[in-house]
Amino acid sequence: MARILITSALPYINGVKHLGNLAGSMLPADVYARFQRLSGHDVLYICATDEHGTPAELAAASEDKDVRTYCDEQHDIQRAAGEGYGLSYDYFGRTSNTPNIELTQHFAAVLEEKGLIEERVEHQVFSIDDDRFLPDRYVEGTCPHCGFERARGDQCDNCGRLLEPTDLKEPYSKISGSKNLEVRETAHLHLLQTKMEDKIRAWVDASDGWPSLAKSIAYKWLDEGLRDRSITRDLKWGVPVAKDGTPREGFETKVFYVWFDAPIGYVGATREWADATGNDWESWWRTDKGAQDVTYVQFMGKDNVAFHTVSFPATILGSEEPWKTVDRLKAFNWLTWYGGKFSTSEKRGVFMDQALDLLPGDYWRWYLTANAPEGSDSAFTWEHFQSLINTDLANVLGNYVNRILRFNKSRFDGVVPEGGEWGADEDWLASELEARLKDAATHFEAMEFRKAAGEVRAIWALGNEYLTRAEPWTKFKADPSAAAIGVRTALNYMTVMAKIAQPIIPDAAKTILDALGVADDERTWPACDVCEMLTALPLGQAVEPPEVLFKKIEDTDVEAWSERFGGAE
Ligand code: MF3
Ligand code: ZN
Repeated sequence: MARILITSALPYINGVKHLGNLAGSMLPADVYARFQRLSGHDVLYICATDEHGTPAELAAASEDKDVRTYCDEQHDIQRAAGEGYGLSYDYFGRTSNTPNIELTQHFAAVLEEKGLIEERVEHQVFSIDDDRFLPDRYVEGTCPHCGFERARGDQCDNCGRLLEPTDLKEPYSKISGSKNLEVRETAHLHLLQTKMEDKIRAWVDASDGWPSLAKSIAYKWLDEGLRDRSITRDLKWGVPVAKDGTPREGFETKVFYVWFDAPIGYVGATREWADATGNDWESWWRTDKGAQDVTYVQFMGKDNVAFHTVSFPATILGSEEPWKTVDRLKAFNWLTWYGGKFSTSEKRGVFMDQALDLLPGDYWRWYLTANAPEGSDSAFTWEHFQSLINTDLANVLGNYVNRILRFNKSRFDGVVPEGGEWGADEDWLASELEARLKDAATHFEAMEFRKAAGEVRAIWALGNEYLTRAEPWTKFKADPSAAAIGVRTALNYMTVMAKIAQPIIPDAAKTILDALGVADDERTWPACDVCEMLTALPLGQAVEPPEVLFKKIEDTDVEAWSERFGGAE
């Protein structure tokens, strides 16, 4: 039994995430966690909301709420959305909770002891009317290069040039619109990443469990040369720059930068889990306390990779303390909306809570796994969604389950029938299944989610092929026992179809396994002898057709949803 620590990138607090976020971190992490649990491993799957920073402050202000209240509410909303998709976190914590605050302050103190932190004075735009320093992208003004009037302080969206806020002509605060701005001096803590380049590069070189997307992004950053980066901000909401409860002199109104404390939140949320359950968090995170035999797997979208392969490692490795670092890092490309961006303001795309109003979680889980943006970006379209759901779930899986269970009910009294002899068709099925099952396990293990879903689908399809060969429907009249072996094998095969579906569509799989009366402790990944699998159901056991497993998506649904959420333009 292996010990596997799994984290998905911590969703930012400012509103429910869209399907692309789900597809590129939380869902694949959950599928992987479920697969490893079914395979008998000791899994700890941790997530949390990432709550600090300017966007959270502004979102709260726009709803006229104090930021803590806003975060409390949004945390609950995101938790509920996750539950709707069956995300099986062992713990869903918060970066604003005490464990993360303590850990963040701890890392900063240790890094300073190691000579890796330095105070430096910077010049920053201060908005007198807002009474705050403005982060670069909250200063807007006229681009000095192209004259675009709404260029941001970090970049002009019109000509694409990178800017400094002080480059802008006629600058104004994006927060209030005020032009009453001045440049002020402000001190910030800087993490001296330049001193750690060699160490980080050696660590990346030694990491062999990273798929190529992650590794190439890490090298791109290293090759460009690391820069020292400021890890504090002039903000109210965040982890205070303090030690043992005492604010650092001159930093009373400053907090740590959100990207400094957020990844530490993986550890913080594990501590929350330990506090809540009486477990030991150090055995998962400290290599001097048991974590040396943990495999740590991270899931994230590609925009997060640099933070996880360079910045966060700088924090961890710089501390020289025995922390567990990532072993396998799975990164995703983008799920696009008809080839473009998801956009709330333009009514393009579906958010996690809205999707659940249309259909249950399993529909989305299947689509987003089978169409995972792995090798490249992949496009969501309503038409593609409709076709995958109707073919894979309603036809290939759903019809099989219904046909067999209904036939069995009408012809064999709804119990696993006796009679008939194992023959050539069953031999054929067993040998085909054996090869495919191994491939499916390999793909899940390798975190190749499209391929894993493809193999699961192929195993479902194999069941239908078997029925075409065994033909219990036509055999029944002349030879009921020949029909009995067909139905019995098909029922046993259905247990395998459902067991392997569990990581991706857990609710539907449970419905099928319930219908077949499979005991809870037998609902593991099928790894025993194939012939045993296909003869395991006790003769005479009652099996009941479930309600319709998946309903078909109609053209009228697609029309209505395209209208409501945007579609091909
Ligand atoms: N909140 C970030 C995002 O949405 C991800 C943070 S991952 C963490 O892109 F590890 F830093 F928390
Ligand atoms: Zn410009």
